[in-house]
Amino acid sequence: MKLAVPKESRPGERRVAVTPENVSRLIKMGFSVAIEHDAGVGAAFGDDDYVAAGAEIVIGTREIWQTGDMVLKVQPPAIHPELGVHEADLLREGGSLLCFLYPGKNTDVIEKLAARKATAIAVDQIPRITRAQKMDALSSMANIAGYRAVVEAASFYGRFFTGQMTAAGRVPAAKVLVIGAGVAGLSAIGAARGMGAIVRAFDTRPTVKEQVKSMGADFIELDVKEDGEGAGGYAKEMSPAFIKAEMEMFAAQAKDVDIIITTALIPNRPAPVLITEDMVKGMKKGSVIVDLAAENGGNCALTDSGNVVERYGVHILGYTDLPSRLAPTASLLFGNNLTHLLADLGGASHFHLDLADEIVRGALVLRDGELIWPPPPRPPAALPPDPKAVAAAITPRTRAII
Ligand code: NAI
Repeated sequence: MKLAVPKESRPGERRVAVTPENVSRLIKMGFSVAIEHDAGVGAAFGDDDYVAAGAEIVIGTREIWQTGDMVLKVQPPAIHPELGVHEADLLREGGSLLCFLYPGKNTDVIEKLAARKATAIAVDQIPRITRAQKMDALSSMANIAGYRAVVEAASFYGRFFTGQMTAAGRVPAAKVLVIGAGVAGLSAIGAARGMGAIVRAFDTRPTVKEQVKSMGADFIELDVKEDGEGAGGYAKEMSPAFIKAEMEMFAAQAKDVDIIITTALIPNRPAPVLITEDMVKGMKKGSVIVDLAAENGGNCALTDSGNVVERYGVHILGYTDLPSRLAPTASLLFGNNLTHLLADLGGASHFHLDLADEIVRGALVLRDGELIWPPPPRPPAALPPDPKAVAAAITPRTRAII
């Protein structure tokens, strides 16, 4: 079975779906691997590294898409900016595709793939269950985004993160507020603490309090008692009274902190707007907001998705490509996630898409052109994406990286 890895075509995308190290492992699993010429350059992997690992280099975008049994990539297929054709139309008829697909919003892409009689697996639809952690590319990328958010904040913030007492005078430590302590938030907390900042965090799920504290940050609590833990342990929408109390607290915090990193997300909902224009106005000049939810509407009312704006002396960063800004690490983790999934599917010799397998059923969007997504709801007994188990497994990993 042959795997083909095209160069990512989205402008500015530097990640590659498979690293040379992954190539060696995939070959041991019985696959052969073809890589498009220069596919890894943005992530600091050269053609020679891939050849040394046993891959074949293919010159030409059309050629690589037609080469393999399964195409592995990062971004969903889109119109190729140089060829002017949709990548889905480049897939050979009956071919397979494994990448981020977001089938809920990319219905046009799914239709195009169906017309190619494709089998399409969406990495973003792998359920967050304990067994699937090593394949959880969304968590891998959120971890990187949280870390990189702090690096980006530091580059716009004109002061030290760590406090210093020098002969010339005292320099205060930066104060960082992290809103939403899921995967990205915990990673941001670790990175900001590692740089010496004073960090406080808030989340609607009280279960994360211990994780926040164990990473050396303060957990802010509200007087309004309401548990944000929803079905399956994911965040749920909060009552208006809770949101009001939360936003009053953010207004007070905004006057005190130097950096706000927002990661608040409720699955399948637009991002809640938690930082208003008035709060930005109340911040000290030179402060920075990094809005990780930018692509999903933004947690800050003034965020311009994909861009940096300066309002009332505050830089608001709406980058939507944070993992790509750390392309070698992002490619390493993404490639590992794909490699684990391909191993779980039986490798090349026993490759099988078993619909009885919860992971396959969740992620398989098209089977030979037939739409089988979304999967039927799971019975309650089989519903344990235990968030504590997921968080417990992610926290040490995040801390180990930092
Ligand atoms: P997650 O689901 O693990 O964490 C989100 C957290 O927000 C949860 O802990 C939830 O309880 C909390 N939350 C929800 N509503 C809240 C509220 N009103 N107040 C306070 N906390 C609230 O999500 P993950 O994986 O950490 O992703 C976070 C965000 O980062 C998402 O919007 C995701 O799309 C984004 N992201 C952005 C990237 C970029 O380049 N900008 C890259 C990767 C992820």
